[in-house]
Amino acid sequence: MTKGAQLYEGKAKKVFETDDPELLIVSYKDDATAFNGLKKGTIEGKGVINNRMSNALMKLLERKGIPTHLVEELSDRDTLVKRVSIVPLEVIIRNIAAGSFSKRYGVVEGLEFRSPTIEFSYKNDALGDPLINEYHIVAIGLADQSEIYTIKKMAFAINEELKAFWASCGVILVDFKLEFGRLPDGSIVLADEISPDTCRLWDSKTKEKLDKDRFRRDLGGVEDAYREIMKRLEEHIAEAKK
Ligand code: TMP
Ligand code: ASP
Repeated sequence: MTKGAQLYEGKAKKVFETDDPELLIVSYKDDATAFNGLKKGTIEGKGVINNRMSNALMKLLERKGIPTHLVEELSDRDTLVKRVSIVPLEVIIRNIAAGSFSKRYGVVEGLEFRSPTIEFSYKNDALGDPLINEYHIVAIGLADQSEIYTIKKMAFAINEELKAFWASCGVILVDFKLEFGRLPDGSIVLADEISPDTCRLWDSKTKEKLDKDRFRRDLGGVEDAYREIMKRLEEHIAEAKK
């Protein structure tokens, strides 16, 4: 499959057309941003890690019956995916208080929730991705009620699978962001990526941060954290396939 015209360039990925109108190539960059693009930088080797990690996790989810956009990894940075129309929502699942949740509600980072939570943000850079509730989503036509039902069911099922997988790697899945897309037949699939850019991943024993918070918060050791989390995944992904 060859790369055609560039359709879109996002903060961390580029998207290209292919000969097949139903397929696209996603190309992962090393560029990193935070705070809606205000902070910019490069994380050497991130594109390769995020590409491989996202594909490995999506394959794991496919095996558990969760449909994704993944077709085939083409190279270190490039992956063939189904063309979807992205539902303009960031779907955030949390198991432990951190980040904007801790800030908004004055809850100490690290508080373990009694049950996982979900929240939605409206994917709109000009507005700074504001929080949005289900009534508002339906009211302005971002998704209908049955799509929201499907997305919530899939997001919590993904949480259970990923929590268990990361636990086997000695890693706590604190929270993560998902995006979903519609296939031409209207069905909903998991899209975008699952990577240290989009998840909070803490070492189970030391609670050391092994994700993009090292970049967001200037903690140092960013590249090392990405390499370490990838190493953990690679050591355990073979086990998860059994
Ligand atoms: P938050 O605590 O800053 O709201 O982030 C929740 C999770 O979502 C965290 O794992 C990081 C991820 N995330 C993204 O993937 N993209 C974003 O733009 C933001 C703000 C967070
Ligand atoms: N998506 C955020 C940004 O706009 C990055 C983040 O905090 O993950 O820059």
